[in-house]
Amino acid sequence: MIETVRKHIIEVQAFSSTNKEEIENFRIKYLGKKGLLNDFFAEFKNVPNEQKKEFGQVINTLKNAAQEKVDSLKEAIESSTETKGVYGDLSRPGEVIPLGSRHPISIVKNKIIDIFLRIGFNVSEGPEIEDDWHNFTALNLPEYHPARDMQDTFFIQTNPDVLLRTHTSSVQVRYMENNKPPIRTISPGRVYRNEAISARSHCFFHQVEGLYVDKGVSFADLKQTLQYFTTEMFGKSKIRLRPSYFPFTEPSAEVDVYWGLETEADYRITKGTGWLEIGGCGMVDPNVLKNCGIDPEEYSGFAFGVGIDRIAMLLHQIPDIRMFSENDIRFLEQFKSVL
Ligand code: DAH
Repeated sequence: MIETVRKHIIEVQAFSSTNKEEIENFRIKYLGKKGLLNDFFAEFKNVPNEQKKEFGQVINTLKNAAQEKVDSLKEAIESSTETKGVYGDLSRPGEVIPLGSRHPISIVKNKIIDIFLRIGFNVSEGPEIEDDWHNFTALNLPEYHPARDMQDTFFIQTNPDVLLRTHTSSVQVRYMENNKPPIRTISPGRVYRNEAISARSHCFFHQVEGLYVDKGVSFADLKQTLQYFTTEMFGKSKIRLRPSYFPFTEPSAEVDVYWGLETEADYRITKGTGWLEIGGCGMVDPNVLKNCGIDPEEYSGFAFGVGIDRIAMLLHQIPDIRMFSENDIRFLEQFKSVL
């Protein structure tokens, strides 16, 4: 008899379950009214006197073991359902969510926007599919003007009035048509040119156009604004404006920033001169103001255009413009840590 009870003790100690029903059945089997323990207690009177002490001890051990087992299994279930709650175990390790990265063109665009927002410019946009007026004619480039050849244009179907904009200067026109001075706006966007694709040029790329129109805006304002921009963008404050020609500005200039000649890369990107061209600029031609409904007698303005792709290539030492549009994840992922 004592041996039977000992076997039950081992069985009780080995029992384990996370199932409420199973645990309850276990409890009834040992501790219930008609359970084994009551049977054993009832058996007590039939045990010979010299064994009574030992028998009493083992059935007490069995009773305690069964009670403890039931208590601890129940508690384990309760504590696990408590932490699970509605959302499950809140202390479990999280699942890794793969993080994307911002495109280098967007990174540079956002940086340029941020720099100009700080000095009171707003951001404006226009359509990539343009008409002749906004891309050419209003910008002092009438039909048959030779300067139209400066940019090879993609026309949509055979209609010469519907085209892919060749520059963001078209947004200048739209903005002036719809807003009265004072105007301070920058217009970032994608532009298209029918050019052979190579490491240095693509048939689409990105520009930021700047426009400032108010009473008494001068060339000195233009130069100061560009110098502020290069200082904030590149940490370089030395610039020069080289006389140039654009039909929509008079006078016109090309903007160079002094990059320096400290490293071998500086020699390479500046072709040994130390100077780097970053865009075009000038005072808005009075004809353009007139075309957009602004009186050139009362107002003057400056404009500039810079290429985003070139700046991104420069800042991140990207050797080939085609990399921007190849969607190679190994290239794009490198910009994960950049804002
Ligand atoms: N639209 C010119 C281009 O695409 C860039 C440019 C030059 C814009 C001078 C301007 C400007 O606003 O004043 O090459």
